[in-house]
Order: sequence, then structure tokens, then C-alpha cells
Amino acid sequence: MRVVSGIQPTGNLHLGNYLGAIRNWVAMQEEGECLYFLADLHAISMPYDPAELTANTREMAAALVACGIDTDRSVLFNQARVPAHSELQWLLNGTARMGWLKRMTQFKDKSGKNQEGASIALFTYPVLQAADVLLYQATHVPVGEDQKQHLELARDIAQKFNNDYASEEAPVFTLPDPIIPPAAARIMSLRDGSAKMSKSDPSDMSRINLTDDADTIMQKVKKAKTDPEPLPSEAAGLVGRAEAQNLVGIYAAMAGESVDAVLARFGGQGFGAFKPALGDLLVAHLDPIGERFRALKDDHAALDAILVKGAQKAALMAAPTLAATYSALGLAR
Ligand code: TYM
Repeated sequence: MRVVSGIQPTGNLHLGNYLGAIRNWVAMQEEGECLYFLADLHAISMPYDPAELTANTREMAAALVACGIDTDRSVLFNQARVPAHSELQWLLNGTARMGWLKRMTQFKDKSGKNQEGASIALFTYPVLQAADVLLYQATHVPVGEDQKQHLELARDIAQKFNNDYASEEAPVFTLPDPIIPPAAARIMSLRDGSAKMSKSDPSDMSRINLTDDADTIMQKVKKAKTDPEPLPSEAAGLVGRAEAQNLVGIYAAMAGESVDAVLARFGGQGFGAFKPALGDLLVAHLDPIGERFRALKDDHAALDAILVKGAQKAALMAAPTLAATYSALGLAR
């Protein structure tokens, strides 16, 4: 089992990242060989500030360690320190089809009405994402629901490359499987149950950051949008109540319980009772993470050392696949 996944180092780690992906990253360290990276090369696909990117990359590394990524067991690095990612992307550009990339919903969402003004990087980024996982022969990729389409593209690229340039007996790439947590596949905004919780939402009240202190977390949960009805006693009663469904889903994911088990306790009660319980649960889980994060984040030398060491290991692990790709394509190096 080879586990590979990445996260963009833009600003804070939020509860959606944590429940949708990072918690699985931590858990999967028990089961296989894991490589986790900060997708800093991804960040240049949208307008950004270079100094902030450097700072955010370190900060995200600190956040991942605070969440439980063990850098003695897992390989933690930033993409830019491992040039094999960019190299493999170029090699795979020959296999990826325009039509496949045009179907990517994230490009449509992020470019909005101004597709002509979007960067080429935003369009071709999913090929880099394919390179990210194919480079290490990933078998399992823990992600939230919004990355599923990108993983399907990675499989399509791997399959076509294997068909076109390799043989069935000796494929160059492994087809990776996405690992999506059913209960927390898509954590929604606290202000709008139809929008996903996201770093790019202008309102900080829409998300819980892993670095928020206890008071801020309680405040955000109390102000979260809800409806006037009491909670139902079964999951079926949440249909059509997006905000209620999201808050109960967050509680269930955080507590490791089913939605029905949570509703068996809170059914019939209003949000006046449920919200403080949810806030307490979040604070109990996130407070120790925040504390570890604050202890780590300013030690730039230690964080850089972690990322440099991780990049060295990753580069060694990437080398055989990169060499096999050049060779399959008939490129001498
Ligand atoms: P990014 O940085 O947007 O998100 C990191 C991870 O968090 C998950 N996630 C969520 N899960 C549930 N609910 C939410 N509201 C929510 N918001 C974010 C994402 O699904 C993701 O797993 N392109 C990727 C980074 C990447 C990558 C890769 C991932 C680059 N290369 C290779 C896997 C494999 C991204 O922008 O994720």
C-alpha cells in the first residue's frame, strides 16, 4: 500500500480539510508507506503573493505535524523541492487530452466567467496532480469528494500511457484509488449549507480554522446558520435541511459516530442545546492541535529541515518511475 496526497498551502487548514482528508492521512500512517506534500506548485495557478506562499508553505507543514503527521514515518515535503513532479507533468502532457481537461469542474469554478484570462497552469494543473500520485506508484489517495474527478483523470492518464507506451505485463503506472470518508466527504460552509467550506470564502465565519481558539470556535458554531425546527431523531429527517445536516454531519465525523447515533441523542432538541455540545466537541479535538501548531510554527529552521529531508526521500522514491517514463517515451537522458 502506497499512500500519496497533497494540500495547497494557501492560508489556514480548516475543518473541511481536516475531516475530509487530513484525519485519513494520519490514520493511514498505520497501514502503509505514506508521502504527503504541500502543493506549492499548484498555488501559482491563481493570483498570489510569493512571500506569502513561502510563509504559508511552512505554516501548513507545521499544521500537518500538529495534526499528527509523523515525519519519522511519513515523507512530508513541498512539491517545488522535488523537480520530478514538474518533469513528469510535462511528459504526461503528451498523453492527457484537451477534452478530458475541459471537463474538469474545478477549472470551470475557479476560472469563473473569465476563462480567457485564466492561467494555463489552472487549466493543466490536473495533469500535475496526476503526476503527483503516479510518480510514486500510489495505490491509495485520501481526499475529499471535490478531488474525485481529478483522481479519475489520473487513472485515465495512467491507463492511456500504459496502453500506448508500455505492455500489460509491465505497466509504467499504477492506477490509484481515491479514499473518501463517507461521513465527511463534503463539509459545508457554516453560513451557507449549499457551498463547501473553503479557504477562499471571504467570510472567516464560514469556516472553522484549526488554529481558531476555543472562544472563536464557540462563537462560529453559535452563529452558524440553522433553521427554526428541532433536530429530527433519524437521518432521513435531515433531507432538505442542508445547514442542519452539515452540523450533525460534522458532529458525527468528529465524534466517530453515525448520524443516526447522534440524532438518537439530540432528536427533538433545538439548536440551542445542540450547538454548545458541538462547540465543546470541536474545542476538545482542535485545542490540542492548535496548541501544537503554535509551538511549532515559528521554528522555521526545524520546519525547513523537515521539508528538505522529506524532499530528498521523495526524490529518491520518484526516480525509478521518472526514468521508466522517459525510457518508455523514447527520450534519451
Ligand atoms: P485542497 O488544498 O483544496 O484541499 C486539501 C484536501 O482537503 C479536502 N477538502 C475537503 N474535504 C471535505 N470538505 C471540504 N469542505 C473540503 N475542502 C477541502 C480536499 O478534497 C483535499 O483532499 N488539488 C488538491 C491538492 C493536490 C492533491 C494532489 C491531492 C495536489 N496534488 C495529489 C491529492 C493528490 C487541492 O487543491 O486540495
